[in-house]
Amino acid sequence: MDRKKFLAQVGMGAAALLVPACMGGLSSCKKTDTNPTKDFTVDVSSGSLATNGGFMVSNGVIIARTNSGSFLAVAAACTHEGTNINYNPSGNNFICPNHGAQFDSTGNVTQGPASNNLTRYNTTLTGNSLRVFS
Ligand code: FES
Repeated sequence: MDRKKFLAQVGMGAAALLVPACMGGLSSCKKTDTNPTKDFTVDVSSGSLATNGGFMVSNGVIIARTNSGSFLAVAAACTHEGTNINYNPSGNNFICPNHGAQFDSTGNVTQGPASNNLTRYNTTLTGNSLRVFS
């Protein structure tokens, strides 16, 4: 048997072993986020984060640049029913467009109907690279 045929057969064998493991709804095959911690970077040199008052959503986190130029990061999904919230630079807070819940700059609920706070994330700016992390 030549090398090419051997590798092809080994590859098919490995695939055959893996397929049954993902059948039948085994939890190991579900595409769920098993690591809810966050650690990623965004470029703030262009786009909405290049100017004070701008915001964007990345990796389930809303990142905002305040009117004073500092950065905020909280979970983007409203704790009421999951709608993505917006940043309000004039009030330095977050507002849900769906039912009007409001959260302060640290993610704490200030107006219902949401009753749970948003998860807050840390930020560190190095040059134009903003690291957002748990
Ligand atoms: S989904 Fe945000 S207030 Fe209802």
